[in-house]
Amino acid sequence: MIDLDSARAILRQNDQDGHTVPTRGLYPFQWNWDSAITALGWLTFDEARAWEEAHTMFRGQWDNGMLPHILFHGHSESYFPGPEVWGAKAAIPSSSISQPPVWATAINLMLQRSGDAARARAEARALLPGLLGYHEWWYRDRDRDNNGLVQSFHPWESGMDNSPAWDGPLARVPEVKWKYRRRDLGHVDKEERPGRLEYNRYLHLIELQKKNDFDPELISAASPYRVVDIGTVSILHRATRDLIELCRIFGQDAAIPGLESELARTRAAVSACWSGRDRCFLNRDIIADAPLAEVTTGTLLPLFGLLADDEQAGAMAALVEEWLGASNFGLSSTHPASARYEPQRYWRGPVWLHINWMIAEGLRAYGYDDLAERIRSNTRKCIETAGGYYEYFNSETGEGCGGGNFSWTAAVALYWLGR
Ligand code: DGY
Repeated sequence: MIDLDSARAILRQNDQDGHTVPTRGLYPFQWNWDSAITALGWLTFDEARAWEEAHTMFRGQWDNGMLPHILFHGHSESYFPGPEVWGAKAAIPSSSISQPPVWATAINLMLQRSGDAARARAEARALLPGLLGYHEWWYRDRDRDNNGLVQSFHPWESGMDNSPAWDGPLARVPEVKWKYRRRDLGHVDKEERPGRLEYNRYLHLIELQKKNDFDPELISAASPYRVVDIGTVSILHRATRDLIELCRIFGQDAAIPGLESELARTRAAVSACWSGRDRCFLNRDIIADAPLAEVTTGTLLPLFGLLADDEQAGAMAALVEEWLGASNFGLSSTHPASARYEPQRYWRGPVWLHINWMIAEGLRAYGYDDLAERIRSNTRKCIETAGGYYEYFNSETGEGCGGGNFSWTAAVALYWLGR
């Protein structure tokens, strides 16, 4: 049995002045996609707080529309790299990259599921300009090759930080030489976190952004790391569909044709990423101009993004069915047959509940209800086996990994498993 009272208590405990920290200590600020998923959890028992989560996030939006991946609302010694390393000059100190854009989807779901229609309409309407600016930013600044496939400038932008998918492109990135102290290892076992080499390179990319004045053109020209992350492309595609729906509801018709043409461009371009042999859409290394071979849960997200045709969806459903055979806890973040798969290490194998939710939602949309339900019941087993709401779960044992009392895990339980 899942204890939803504890899930609610976790959100209350992680509530900090209008934003929800993912977990105390390890992540003491507001993270972009964490926050969107967490708002869905708040919606189930405190709607006002759910909307506040969104407003707090959008207060940190940059003038160019970018919604940062971290908003540093206060000071904390328990996280590195902090605002001084990012060097961004924004109203709320922040990182200089974004994260998978779940917000328009979350806001549309909040509007549909709200028990207070009048309030929800007013809140969603007030958030619409920020959402439009954010999507414009993705298509304007990050569709670097003008083909409908937005590009990521940092592995953290994918939200799937140390996925083996990024190993090849990241290996090109020089390592910083300066000394620093990681704080994550003071909270979590090092076997569950990215390694030192990866951190040295993550920091180089952060410095590169700063040196190039956060200018997408200069960064594109200078950076050894640029990828098409199919996960982000898919989440953006679904969110743009939701944004169009919001525009219709609120009479913002002028924005719709431009957004529709972005959707069409993405749909036309993404088919080139399809790999029949792998039965999924592969990420792409822009610098090497080549597909990235790793099969990860990110490469299944075109189901959630509604980007697959029926035949592709059928092939992906068959792949998911086999993949589920390897774990009782839903989908391991990296395919278990990969040589780089590690069941306990951050994005290299463990199960993440919000990704299970997205893939199950995608499968449902294509008519694979039984498979979606199987993922949902496996997802429950994560919480039951671990006996708590962890950041992620060992894909083989179900053991809780990373941070404990984790906001988005509690939120997914409230929003999806508790229904
Ligand atoms: C971290 O610090 O591990 C975060 O995932 C970066 O966003």
